[in-house]
Amino acid sequence: MKIVVLAGGISTERDVSLVSGREIYRALKENGHQTVLVDLFLGLSEPDRPLEQLFDADIDWAASVCSVSAEAPDLDSVKALRPGYRSLLGPHVLELCSLSDMVFLALHGSNGEDGRIQALFDLMGIRYTGTGHVSSAVSMDKELTKRMFRALDVPTPPGVTAVKGVPFTLPDAVGFPCMVKTCCGGSSVGVYRADDPSSLEEALKNAFSYEDQVVVERHVTGREFSVGVIEGKALPIIEIAPLEGFYDYKNKYQAGSTVETCPADLPPQTAARIQEHAEKACAAVGIESYARVDFMLEEQTGADYALEVNTLPGMTPTSLLPQEAAAMGYTFSQLCEWILQVSLKKYQ
Ligand SMILES: Nc1ncnc2c1ncn2[C@@H]1O[C@H](COP(=O)(O)OP(=O)(O)O)[C@@H](O)[C@H]1O
Ligand SMILES: [Mg+2]
Repeated sequence: MKIVVLAGGISTERDVSLVSGREIYRALKENGHQTVLVDLFLGLSEPDRPLEQLFDADIDWAASVCSVSAEAPDLDSVKALRPGYRSLLGPHVLELCSLSDMVFLALHGSNGEDGRIQALFDLMGIRYTGTGHVSSAVSMDKELTKRMFRALDVPTPPGVTAVKGVPFTLPDAVGFPCMVKTCCGGSSVGVYRADDPSSLEEALKNAFSYEDQVVVERHVTGREFSVGVIEGKALPIIEIAPLEGFYDYKNKYQAGSTVETCPADLPPQTAARIQEHAEKACAAVGIESYARVDFMLEEQTGADYALEVNTLPGMTPTSLLPQEAAAMGYTFSQLCEWILQVSLKKYQ
């Protein structure tokens, strides 16, 4: 198949996306596909041959891709590479995608996980991996996601929305400690824990520097898990235990900062219940193809709470979904092929 792997963009998860893209690109090439890796935002500035010939060209597209640093990426320096840009899509991206049989979306965050690329591709007849535009948009928005969860009986921590410029009072149902999260962030950028009124004020101020709407949610004290769901079926559960603090940006992407165990050590009944909630969470927001759901398991009550649905979960070598697939005996290349085949079914 002719495949374009789309990565990068200018979301806060740019760097992670580039690593996902590089790994997927290598895997698909290994699987025998004619594969091109492109940065959504930077595109191809001066292609040296007609675009249709790029699929067969002997080019190592991964060579130019960077690795993830401990800090969130410097987006201003990326934006400076396309002065006066208007479109989020770099030169030739759309033409190249139109020539492919399938676009493998390795994007994360607001440039690809929020449904806009999916909607554009639907209109243009470009086929892509993963779920469609509506479920992407709902899942990207933590407030909308929580509404869908509540409506369809998926347990989620009590939470409220705070709006920039509007006085905020913390409801008793939430209380301290609480988590403050930007509605549409990801990779824990814009996620803060607040233990008292002054840290809440500080957290809200920080969160409002990213977005005008933020979710304030009851902090669930306990173990953290994530569950991949492919074609409506839950994969083995992975436990995430950061050595320090919560699963923030650094703990997500710096090797050795988090202990990850898959399959998670859980009583079979608890595991089955969390998997069922993961499947239900995906159904609640209308996921097609695949996604990954984050959970907290409350120590005191034993109750599990779904935090969010990730519609284009990380695909770096240390990412959670590849580890879950590995626990089922799938190699990374096999997982990429699985995602490709499942996503193709949308078009049959
Ligand atoms: N209600 C909560 N209770 C405890 N920890 C939380 C809660 N919400 C988020 N967290 C922590 O913050 C991390 C990021 O939150 P999450 O809702 O998954 O957003 P994202 O991954 O999109 O940044 C979680 O992985 C978890 O470690
Ligand atoms: Mg998360």
